[in-house]
Amino acid sequence: MELTTILALLVTPLVAQFVYRYWTNPLCKIPAAHPLAHFTSLWIYYVRWRAVENTTLKRAHAQLGPIVCLGPNEVSVNCVKGGIRDVYAGGFEKSNASGTFNWYAFFSNYGSVDNMFSTGHNKPHSARKRMLSNIYSKSVVTASPALLAQVSSIIYDRFLPRLESTFSDEDTGVLNIYALLSAVTMDIVTGYIFGLKSGSNLISNPEQLSWFLGLYNSRRSFNFWPQELPALTNFVQKWIGYRLVPQWVDEANGKIEDWTKAMCQSAAAVTADGVANVADTPVVYGQLSVVLAKEVKKAGGEALELDSHVASEVLDHLAAGFDTSGITLTYVIHELCRHPEVQVRLQRELRTLSPRIVHSSSPSLPDGKAVDALPFLHAVIWETLRLHPAIPGPQPRVSPPQGCRLGSEDNTYYVPGGVRVSASAGLLHLNEDVYLYAGEWKPERWLDLENLDEEKRRDMENRWFWAFGSGGRMCVGSHLAVYQMKYILAALYSNYTTAIVDDNGIEQSDAYTAPPQSDKLLIRLQKLNSYPSDM
Ligand code: HEM
Ligand SMILES: *[C@@H]1O[C@H](CO)[C@@H](O)[C@H](O)[C@H]1NC(C)=O
Ligand SMILES: *[C@@H]1O[C@H](CO)[C@@H](O)[C@H](O)[C@H]1NC(C)=O
Ligand SMILES: *[C@@H]1O[C@H](CO)[C@@H](O)[C@H](O)[C@H]1NC(C)=O
Repeated sequence: MELTTILALLVTPLVAQFVYRYWTNPLCKIPAAHPLAHFTSLWIYYVRWRAVENTTLKRAHAQLGPIVCLGPNEVSVNCVKGGIRDVYAGGFEKSNASGTFNWYAFFSNYGSVDNMFSTGHNKPHSARKRMLSNIYSKSVVTASPALLAQVSSIIYDRFLPRLESTFSDEDTGVLNIYALLSAVTMDIVTGYIFGLKSGSNLISNPEQLSWFLGLYNSRRSFNFWPQELPALTNFVQKWIGYRLVPQWVDEANGKIEDWTKAMCQSAAAVTADGVANVADTPVVYGQLSVVLAKEVKKAGGEALELDSHVASEVLDHLAAGFDTSGITLTYVIHELCRHPEVQVRLQRELRTLSPRIVHSSSPSLPDGKAVDALPFLHAVIWETLRLHPAIPGPQPRVSPPQGCRLGSEDNTYYVPGGVRVSASAGLLHLNEDVYLYAGEWKPERWLDLENLDEEKRRDMENRWFWAFGSGGRMCVGSHLAVYQMKYILAALYSNYTTAIVDDNGIEQSDAYTAPPQSDKLLIRLQKLNSYPSDM
């Protein structure tokens, strides 16, 4: 046989399969983000591997509309009606019916022990969520005496002294605020989970802070293979002996897991001895271990298993809780440094708090409700969550077995079951029709919303604002996040002014959770000895 014949014999079936797929796949009616997208997933995987998904999707939606095809089994949506309302509020699952796909399985811990976040199917997920939503609800968070005591101690005994200590350094008042914010949010979140005595103290232990952040941040660049192509990743390691994820990443995960289990054990010991101080109450750990123990007992399980289930759950909360809030606060501070007039306005608002959050001989915090009610502080945080959402990347779900119709009113498309569907906060928040000058940081847009047309207000506040997601899988910790971010900013700007020293690499990474590319923001603190006079 001639070479050309052999080639033809080899190539024809491939071409035939391509054509067959094209004609039989309903997704081929949906505009493709790339000429290859209707035929193969290789293109979108390559985009993700190069970490240019955000820009690529932004361009695709701008050119092709609110629904685009990314691969023969994948679409991206960028609208509310026929988009996030149907997919997320509509309860599409994280896993497909066969359970072969779950992008979030990557977030299980202790050798694939599921937690609320990683659970693929809605039923077991809502059982877990019912155990936890009460302690994270707005009414419980704002009224919790334990949380108030924890935050008060962390701010007055750790955070303010740490800020003050930067002035005795050689480099007067200069610090990497991203690292410190990660420490404060970790201390507060683990404080609420485990109680102050058993939670972390990263603020006062800089070596422990760099140990932890080193472990945590070094793993970020290795997410692609295990998360997007878990089967291939395992196959390559098992049969070819090549590790796409270096061994030290597994070791880093193991160390973070051990660290979490030690906090669990400490909280259990404190509980057994009887909690003497309200700040030592392990609110989340206490609730979860009691409710889960009942469940495990009902199922006839072992105590050992229970420990891993509790630890896998709280490890996810502490990771989700510190990282996202630390990133958001970093961008709030960066924007405030770039807009000194806004900083002055915030400082003036903070002056109305009573008591003020400054060094004092009888430290106490103003009421959570009073802090929550400050309109400008709220606007500054909301505008940052909009323009720099800590989770800007796609949140993948799977279309239901019976299929669905997606796309904006005038142009909807049939999407069969088992298709990966996602939307991204980073793209929804740039809608110019809802957020005028969407690329600019303008906290004023969140003020006086009640003067706006009702539809416009709901578009801005509810429908298109997606920093915490929506539907049954929406962020459970949003109220804790907002509560801690407000106290931390109030403490910082009640007695300091900030200015940028080095913000190279401040742009957000192209990732699901998106910290500054450089993992740092160097600022200089200046003491506010008297408040700026009214302008
Ligand atoms: C500014 C801070 C935060 C942001 C922007 C944020 C954002 C989000 C988003 C977008 C989701 C949905 C993700 C998806 O489905 O792909 C989510 C889920 C979740 N978040 Fe947050 N989060 C924040 C703070 C926190 C805190 C403080 C906690 C602490 C408990 C937390 C715990 C969780 C958990 C457990 C889930 C999974 C919920 C479920 O599956 O039902 N988050 N978060
Ligand atoms: C995503 O890309 C757009 C357009 O290139 C850019 O304006 C935006 O800042 C990016 N978002 C993130 C989170 O990187
Ligand atoms: C989900 O499973 C079905 C059947 O096993 C499969 O056809 C489909 O491609 C899967 N979906 C994803 C997103 O992997
Ligand atoms: C800020 O703190 C310093 C002490 O570090 C104090 O002298 C000053 O009065 C405080 N400023 C305000 C506005 O409370």
